[in-house]
Amino acid sequence: MKIILTGDRPTGKLHLGHFVGSLRERVKLQNSGEFDKIFIMIADAQALTDHADNPEKVRENIFNVALDYLSVGLDPKKSTLFIQSQIAELFELTAYYLNVVTVSRLERNPTVKNEIAQKNFETSIPAGFLCYPVSQAADITAFDANIVPVGEDQIPMLEQTREIVRKINDIYGEVLVEPDILLPKNQICRRLPGIDGKAKMSKTLGNCIYLSDDSKILAEKIKNMYTDPLHIKVSDPGHIEGNVVFTYLDAFCEDKKIVDDMKEHYQRGGLGDVKVKKFLLEVLENILSPIRQRRADYEKNPDEVLKILREGTENARQKASEVLKRLKRAMKINYFD
Ligand code: TRP
Repeated sequence: MKIILTGDRPTGKLHLGHFVGSLRERVKLQNSGEFDKIFIMIADAQALTDHADNPEKVRENIFNVALDYLSVGLDPKKSTLFIQSQIAELFELTAYYLNVVTVSRLERNPTVKNEIAQKNFETSIPAGFLCYPVSQAADITAFDANIVPVGEDQIPMLEQTREIVRKINDIYGEVLVEPDILLPKNQICRRLPGIDGKAKMSKTLGNCIYLSDDSKILAEKIKNMYTDPLHIKVSDPGHIEGNVVFTYLDAFCEDKKIVDDMKEHYQRGGLGDVKVKKFLLEVLENILSPIRQRRADYEKNPDEVLKILREGTENARQKASEVLKRLKRAMKINYFD
């Protein structure tokens, strides 16, 4: 069996960084027909580990993220879309996994460490936040997932999941499936820069193009995009390194030959930023307009979106409850069977 599980925290709308880093790949995997099951989770419980005081934000973004999923082409007939907090089994699994993880191991997780520094949590780390990698191990193993397509920042989570799986299997017998990570192949897609040229597109930095941006906003953002500050006159030779417009063409334009020719012309001199930006706008419009269209259709039909999530969650819960039963049997805590 080939089973995929992945997901996102619903703390904001998804942007082009998410699109090249994961969404586009998920749709490809889904349509390849190579997988027996695909689970895509909206990780609201994980979002609450650092938003306990702001549940409205999480709630509102469940719908945003669901729309993002559906609009990029995740198809509820092929992929199970579900909401983490509605699957109680995940929390039960987490409780048992916590017993095979040490506090010092939790404190060593590099991604969690970074987040703690970013959020100034040092002196008051919510225990739930420190433990979220364990709950993530539950998310993955509850579905017998063996393939987890995620971004680079999730490498430590997968390492920790694999450790937990091995410990549990060691103690209770082969009961959990050990997952593999699937990273984006292309370096640019692993970390798309922001429109301001900063290393990463991120909501906090305010340098994003969102999947839900309309044509006008998109054009405006591209117009203000960071290029080569030394390229002043059109006739000047330009630099493509760190030039976001070219980075985006590499990430989004299928026709590599056109991009290579433009790069060559730009470096030689005689190709203006306005022209290159106009081409990028065309490329992105071609990608984003069908996405916008699907979003508009689903936006008109919120009941349909809710139904997709409800059915997906029921379906996911079924699977998670089988795995939990299997673990409890292996742990010999199935007293009433
Ligand atoms: N940590 C992921 C994120 O921040 C979300 C997530 C939660 C996840 N559980 C997961 C991803 C399990 C992959 C597998 O986006």
